[in-house]
Amino acid sequence: MSPIRAVIKGVGGYVPEYILTNQELEKMVETNDEWITSRTGIKERRLLKGDDQGTSAMAVKAVRELLEKTNTNPEDIDFILCSTITPDFLCPVTSNLICDMVGAKNAFSFDLMAACSGFLFALSTGANFIESGRYKKGIIIGGDKMSSIVNYTDRNTCILFGDGAGCVLLEAEENSPYGIIDMAMKTDGSGLPYLNIRGGGSRLAPQEYNKDNHEKYFIYQEGATVFKTAVTRMADIAAHIMERNNLTGEDVQWLVPHQANKRIIDATADRMGVSASKVTLNIEKYGNTTNGTLPLCFWDFEKQFKKGDNIILAAFGGGFTWGSMYIKWAYDSH
Ligand code: UT7
Repeated sequence: MSPIRAVIKGVGGYVPEYILTNQELEKMVETNDEWITSRTGIKERRLLKGDDQGTSAMAVKAVRELLEKTNTNPEDIDFILCSTITPDFLCPVTSNLICDMVGAKNAFSFDLMAACSGFLFALSTGANFIESGRYKKGIIIGGDKMSSIVNYTDRNTCILFGDGAGCVLLEAEENSPYGIIDMAMKTDGSGLPYLNIRGGGSRLAPQEYNKDNHEKYFIYQEGATVFKTAVTRMADIAAHIMERNNLTGEDVQWLVPHQANKRIIDATADRMGVSASKVTLNIEKYGNTTNGTLPLCFWDFEKQFKKGDNIILAAFGGGFTWGSMYIKWAYDSH
């Protein structure tokens, strides 16, 4: 084990102002507030409006807030990793744009894609850079403008997703009892048929877009299959991380789960023996922001986290991808 720990020193976040409510969605597709609330736990979601606004527009606001809150000089940042499935462009990548916009002149940066598990995978990657001893400070961002890939005539998906971005500052600390203690990640590419965006990549290139295949350029989900897989795999991997670190539900102060469906979250908490009051929930107001869910939970609950709290992250997403992480929280926020 490295004597160097990657420790979360601060949190930033941003959600757009525009609110899309269940009542608004009732006017757009055949659905209703009762169905959406009881099946998913979602009441409203935020959407990024305005021309020429991509994921970076939200991420930059989150990073600026983080730099200010932690009194960090952007020139001291060694790396910025951005997990997103809705980059502004394919090239240059979103994290490069963010570095430029926030003045992180000495940082290297790249984007990372692992669907809804992306932030957890990026945080693990950043933690390993820090534990290697080569880098001292990094920012890990998770954010998506899901409204750019959602088909607002498809009731199976348009009720689920929202836009938002969050980030954390990671710093190296020697022999610290705090920080990122353990992590586990898994993938299974046989999940392709159940959750995908088939258009826009190299198999169905942008120039092949036409009126007959345009739906393939939006997110597609076979909800029930994804639901069943998510329930078992997210709970299994979180239970595995707890067992490996000799933690029972009593020892865990917070479960920070991916916010895709309240019923999946409840099942995961049950399996871990963690009571509902210890689960960070904001799905009712943001929906599923994909890479944004975990850092936006940090952002909303930071004031309630206490130094020394045992926090378990759990994520599941397209691919399939899934993972869990054990963090010992390093600070009280005032
Ligand atoms: O973040 C990445 C990972 N994603 C997830 O973890 C999401 C996993 N899946 C889910 O959260 C749920 O499967 C959904 C919320 C997407 C759907 O809930 P469900 O209980 O699995 O519903 P279903 O897809 O089995 O559909 C049940 C019924 C169907 O009608 P019939 O065939 O029973 O007549 C659907 O057509 O509900 C219908 N339905 C709707 N009704 C009203 C589907 N969408 C809607 C809607 N409003 N928006």
